[in-house]
Amino acid sequence: MVNREDIGAMRRQYGEHGLIESELAADPIDLFNSWLKDAAANEIVVEANAMVLSTEVEHQPSSRTVLLKDLTAEGFTFFSNYGSRKAKQIAENKNVSLLFPWYPMERQVIVIGSASKTSAQESDSYFASRPRGSQIGAWASAQSDELSSRDELEKRYAEFEGKWGEGEQIPRPDFWGGYVVYPTSIEFWQGRYSRLHDRIRYVRVANNNWEIKRLNP
Ligand SMILES: Cc1cc2nc3c(=O)[nH]c(=O)nc-3n(C[C@H](O)[C@H](O)[C@H](O)COP(=O)(O)O)c2cc1C
Repeated sequence: MVNREDIGAMRRQYGEHGLIESELAADPIDLFNSWLKDAAANEIVVEANAMVLSTEVEHQPSSRTVLLKDLTAEGFTFFSNYGSRKAKQIAENKNVSLLFPWYPMERQVIVIGSASKTSAQESDSYFASRPRGSQIGAWASAQSDELSSRDELEKRYAEFEGKWGEGEQIPRPDFWGGYVVYPTSIEFWQGRYSRLHDRIRYVRVANNNWEIKRLNP
């Protein structure tokens, strides 16, 4: 067990490399793309496209990791089960946040925006690109519902596995698909020396322009 003094003493000195206004892209998606590229190229970062999705309903927040699967001017896309807890929460409150924790890069990005379902076509096309096992898994899992045992899940998987012949295309379940998060603000955090970190927040204003603000660390 890690004792309390040791936890309190965990501390890392951040680097010199910063975020300077004169070097910022006008569109935060361009800056995000270049940071994602850096994270993907970094051997220590596992799952550079993993992001923590937070939802809120009736003042009760909840978070979980999902994978970014597309990024366009419309926003950040991930895929999930439309009957899951997160899906029910998004149906109640479409305002969500996405957090990319790129600790080895001394970086963090927080996106705030509103989530909506992607088109059926987009969901079909991504589902068709998934490995067969994941496609069957999507059919077998009533995500977030209680299971009596692991056995129950594996039985359901085996049942669905037998449903389609070898080479036969597996259709997308209508209870599974994508969400796109349309960003209204994107904040970039870069760790700096003496806790004088850089925080640059882009806020969407009229005509698809972005206002850039620097925040205290
Ligand atoms: C690295 C990682 C990636 C994940 N990616 C996804 C994903 O893309 N979509 C998804 O529905 N769940 C994904 N999960 C599982 C979710 O974190 C979560 O357990 C699940 O979606 C159920 O969440 P909910 O009950 O809040 O709806 C991932 C988990 C991890 C750790």
